[in-house]
This record gives sequence, structure tokens and C-alpha cells, in this order.
Amino acid sequence: MAFGIGLIFFLSLEGNSNQEEIAAEEEGGEEVVEEGEGAGEGEGAAAGDFDPVAVYEANCASCHGANFEGGVGPNLITTELPPEEIAQVLAEGRGIMPGGLVPEEHIDAMATWITELE
Ligand code: HEC
Repeated sequence: MAFGIGLIFFLSLEGNSNQEEIAAEEEGGEEVVEEGEGAGEGEGAAAGDFDPVAVYEANCASCHGANFEGGVGPNLITTELPPEEIAQVLAEGRGIMPGGLVPEEHIDAMATWITELE
């Protein structure tokens, strides 16, 4: 009797894991398609669709102000830092400012954009 219950339990586990495998395979198949599309979009972004204003509003304005005037962080219009050092701050963070908010491939463009703010 105990064996029978164990067997049923085992079979139902088997059934579940098979379902999961099938689900995983289906997900995997979709992912391949998505990756294909995503890769194309990614190339487009790298080729010039990067929008520093959108990144700023989403990730920076809370600390540096909606008009770059500063707040928790310093004013970005009057910053004296050269682009290389801004890039370093963006990549590694500084003080309470977290690094990694800007995707690595856009850090240089973001840094240059900041030096051109008026
Ligand atoms: C959590 C708040 C916070 C966020 C979010 C934040 N910063 Fe900062 N940022 C700071 C603080 C504070 C400093 C000053 C760090 C120090 O020198 O100790 C700083 C420094 C800087 C500096 C150097 C300025 C100078 O003159 O020294 C730049 C450039 C900068 N941030 C840009 C950005 C950008 C671009 C983003 C968005 C991707 C961002 N920050 C997001 C708080 C923040």
C-alpha cells in the first residue's frame, strides 16, 4: 500500500517535471526569437538611438535636479570635471552616488552630453 502511494507520488512528480520541461522548451524557443529581434534593436541603439535625457530623467534627476541644478548631488551644469572623470563617476559611482546607472556602452556619450549642458 505504502509502495502504491509512493508510486503514485512518483508518477505525479514525473508528470510535473515533464510539463516543466515542455514549458521550458517552449520558453526557450520563444527566447531565441526574442533574442534575434532584441539584437537588432540593440544595434540600432548603439548606432545613435541613445537618449541621454531619458536616462537622466529616469536615473539622475532625483539627485541632480530636473534642470541639472543639483540637489543631493552637485550641479551638473557647472561641473568642472572633464569627460573622462565624469565617465569614471558614472561607471564606478562616487560617495553616495551609485555607479552603473548608465549602460557601459553609453557612458562616454553620457559624459560628453553632461559637459555640454548649459
Ligand atoms: C543617489 C543620488 C544620485 C544619483 C541617483 C546620481 N547621482 Fe550623481 N552624484 C551624486 C552625489 C552625492 C555626487 C557627489 C559625489 C561626491 O563627490 O562625493 C554625484 C556626483 C556626480 C558627478 C560629478 C560631478 C562633480 O562635479 O563632481 C556627475 C557628473 C554625476 N554625479 C552625474 C550623474 C548622472 C549622469 C547620474 C544618472 C546616471 C547620477 N549622477 C545619478 C548623487 C547622485
